[in-house]
Amino acid sequence: MHRILFATSEVFPLIKTGGLADVSGSLPPALQALHYDVHIIIPGYQDVLTAIKQKKQIAEVAIPEHNATISLWETRLPGSHIKVWLVDFPPYFDRPGNPYHDTKGEAWPDNADRFALFARTVTAIALDQCDLSWKPDLVHCNDWQTGLVPALLSLVPQRPATVFSIHNLAYQGLFPRDTFDRLQLPEQWWSPEALEFYGQISFIKGGLCFADQLTTVSPGYANEIQTPEFGHGLEGLLRHRSTSLTGILNGIDDQVWNPGTDRYLPNPYNWKRLEDKQLNKTALQEHCGLTVDPSIPVIGLIGRLVHQKGIDMVLHVLPELMLEPVQFVILGSGELEFSKQLQYLAQSYPQKLFAFIGYDEALAHLIEGGADMFLMPSRFEPCGLNQLYSLRYGTLPIVRAVGGLADTITDAEDETIKSGIANGIVFRDAGPMSLLQAVKRALDLYRKPKIWKKVIITGMRQSYSWETSAKQYGALYDKLLRSEKSSNDVLLYHSG
Ligand code: ADP
Ligand code: GLC
Repeated sequence: MHRILFATSEVFPLIKTGGLADVSGSLPPALQALHYDVHIIIPGYQDVLTAIKQKKQIAEVAIPEHNATISLWETRLPGSHIKVWLVDFPPYFDRPGNPYHDTKGEAWPDNADRFALFARTVTAIALDQCDLSWKPDLVHCNDWQTGLVPALLSLVPQRPATVFSIHNLAYQGLFPRDTFDRLQLPEQWWSPEALEFYGQISFIKGGLCFADQLTTVSPGYANEIQTPEFGHGLEGLLRHRSTSLTGILNGIDDQVWNPGTDRYLPNPYNWKRLEDKQLNKTALQEHCGLTVDPSIPVIGLIGRLVHQKGIDMVLHVLPELMLEPVQFVILGSGELEFSKQLQYLAQSYPQKLFAFIGYDEALAHLIEGGADMFLMPSRFEPCGLNQLYSLRYGTLPIVRAVGGLADTITDAEDETIKSGIANGIVFRDAGPMSLLQAVKRALDLYRKPKIWKKVIITGMRQSYSWETSAKQYGALYDKLLRSEKSSNDVLLYHSG
């Protein structure tokens, strides 16, 4: 049984800011079901360590570069048998709130040190230096917070294989040169071939340059990031590594996102009992103080309020859309300016627009269950999970044709409707007018109940199981470990 150490900065349900947590909470159990022995490792954030009652300290690890000794705690991923290891170092992780920034949204000033310490600990465990009687065959890293791990491991000839998954290339972990010096990284890494990126140190380049295999979370995004439009300056490097780069689509965790069993829905339903969805719509309208009327279409939006998600475009078209017979429910947190404008608009149209600024798991489920449509006008979208949840919940996705959105949503046109593959509304240009037109097309479709139902049911019956995705990750692991084994055999042969 192959042993996999899964390193991530967030995992649902212990700590979540976005889709990375959903993936980290779902992929390891799906891999375990395929007989991989997976352990998850995350930083020991204050909120997590305080919330977990069942935990034990299993090791102390000295990290000399940080003049630190960390405590390693062990717990289980709720609802599974998967071990989660928590890297506890109070000066770095014992602080309230978000893993990456303070309550004002400012990045923690010591983020480089925090995630370098995390990476050094992961590396020590990967090299079996902590007396844990468990040595991974492969380390699977995720996003810039774990980027230094493949780099540090590359310095050791007899080491586990490494996979680095890109969930979002826009976040790169860039820090000034003096950070590079302070972290005591090998001088040869200060080069464009390694960690240097236009005069700064880039944590994500640790993964991109040094991991044995790269993945990203949809085939579409895997192609896009090799172009200047989506590559954030890293497109050349990604093209160079294209033979080791694969796109594997995220899945849906059926235990968490299933309209038939969702504990947050007053009226669970499925594609055969679509009329019950209406009851959730009423509950949503009541919850949000909107006019309760089943005939008014409700459009939901959940997400980080940032440029990536096209929130500025939504703000631009909302006043015009308020003239239509439609209601909006928006849930998100992020940039202050977007939050303020949304709240202002919500106050101006209390019967038609509800905006909750903050994080609310229960409301997220009620929106998916109660809304008729779901809006995702992203500028780029590595995969996107809410459009998948929306398909499952019979909530028509209105999306821009990028990344994972383009890979999963088929526009409702005469042809696609006839052939039974239409499952949403798709638009191309990243401009408010295209967005407006797309919403109007969705409203038109809503007025044709027979076709509407057909399109909705197509989405509800599609399968985006984690099992399918986990099998693809498993095939990659197996391939890497086979070639690793043969190169180690060669090494052993030559050494005697
Ligand atoms: P990203 O990872 O870029 O933020 P995804 O679509 O992959 O986007 O995943 C976002 C996840 O975070 C979804 O599970 C979504 O429901 C959840 N989410 C985002 N913002 C909020 C919020 N304010 N409250 C509750 N859940 C949220
Ligand atoms: C990122 C991306 C999102 C993706 C998620 C999980 O945060 O923005 O598109 O679904 O990671 O992979």
